[in-house]
Amino acid sequence: MSEKAGIERLIRPDLATFAGYAARKSPETLEGKVEVPLESIIKLDANENPYGCSPRVSQALAACPNFNIYPDDGQTRLRKLLEGYSGVDARHIVAGSGSNQLIDLVMRLFISPGDEVISCVPTFGIYSFSTKLCGGTLVEVPRDKNFAVNVSAVKAAINKRTKVICLANPNNPTGTLIPRQDILEILDTGLPVLVDEAYHEFSGQTVAPLVGQYENLMVLRTFSKWAGLAGLRVGYGLFPPQIADYLLKIKIPYNVNVAALVAVEESLKDIDYLMSTVRAIIAERGRLFAELGKLGWLKPFPSLANFILCSVLSGQATELRQRLQDKGILVRYFDQPILRNFIRISVGKPEHTDALIKALKEVAY
Ligand SMILES: Cc1ncc(COP(=O)(O)O)c(C=O)c1O
Repeated sequence: MSEKAGIERLIRPDLATFAGYAARKSPETLEGKVEVPLESIIKLDANENPYGCSPRVSQALAACPNFNIYPDDGQTRLRKLLEGYSGVDARHIVAGSGSNQLIDLVMRLFISPGDEVISCVPTFGIYSFSTKLCGGTLVEVPRDKNFAVNVSAVKAAINKRTKVICLANPNNPTGTLIPRQDILEILDTGLPVLVDEAYHEFSGQTVAPLVGQYENLMVLRTFSKWAGLAGLRVGYGLFPPQIADYLLKIKIPYNVNVAALVAVEESLKDIDYLMSTVRAIIAERGRLFAELGKLGWLKPFPSLANFILCSVLSGQATELRQRLQDKGILVRYFDQPILRNFIRISVGKPEHTDALIKALKEVAY
């Protein structure tokens, strides 16, 4: 580690090499760099909901008189609303500014410097980010060639420093589902297991009803994907009550804002509409998968989420991403040892699929 000078010498030395999280770029940063006007950019890089939020949310926010007042720090009303939606009693529930914040809180609760977190890679990057920020070590257990979790390898990776096991279900970026039996086997280790169900509404699978039965099961959900509220940042977790109490104690005060509460309330009044958009995305996922496969040079992997991971069989994923970006279509690319030459495409509206497939045919090499 190099000697730092000036104010930097006071910064935690373990953060000197911290890479941070590579969040997606906003379309406005692409002004003048793409061939289309900014408003025509098709954003398929962050698994957002192309149908947006419920129209009730925008109306209620425009009429909300309370933005000058802090929200209820105890999240009483919000937790009650989430109880109604999740079917899990409010004393198990903690809400966050996105489920990312709950991942961060869980790591802060369990991880002291030197502790270990097991993550089944490739998977969502925030598990690594928050582990390292707490001074912990991420133990990466590779998935198999179809991206299934290797349960015996997870169990073999456990040692006395292991504090949390992360399971994204369905997994991002692979879209893979973990069989319930495998989750139960991992829960039987007795270690805290974080089952991240950010894409639950697209998969229809959940272990939420088991939260009352296990003292080590934590389930995370979000309104970012199915309810189209990524920009308002609201997620929640279902925890054993004693863990929920600790999380409520260590969270930053007022961590979920007034607008997010209004948005949750209105979304839950409009579930039928929102679920109709989820069904449209699921139908489009099937069509996108078939169209991608027909190209012959991408290998799409079956997904139970709102995105599809593809292996790029000819050419470079990074170059492909750039050529699509030039045409105003944003996708995510991966070039890591465990995910060499892949792109991930969020499922959009039918017209987005049409534009994407046309562009892919044009940029093919
Ligand atoms: C697996 C997974 N968990 C959690 C999140 C975070 O969602 P948010 O913080 O928007 O609730 C994401 C976002 O992409 C995700 O893919």
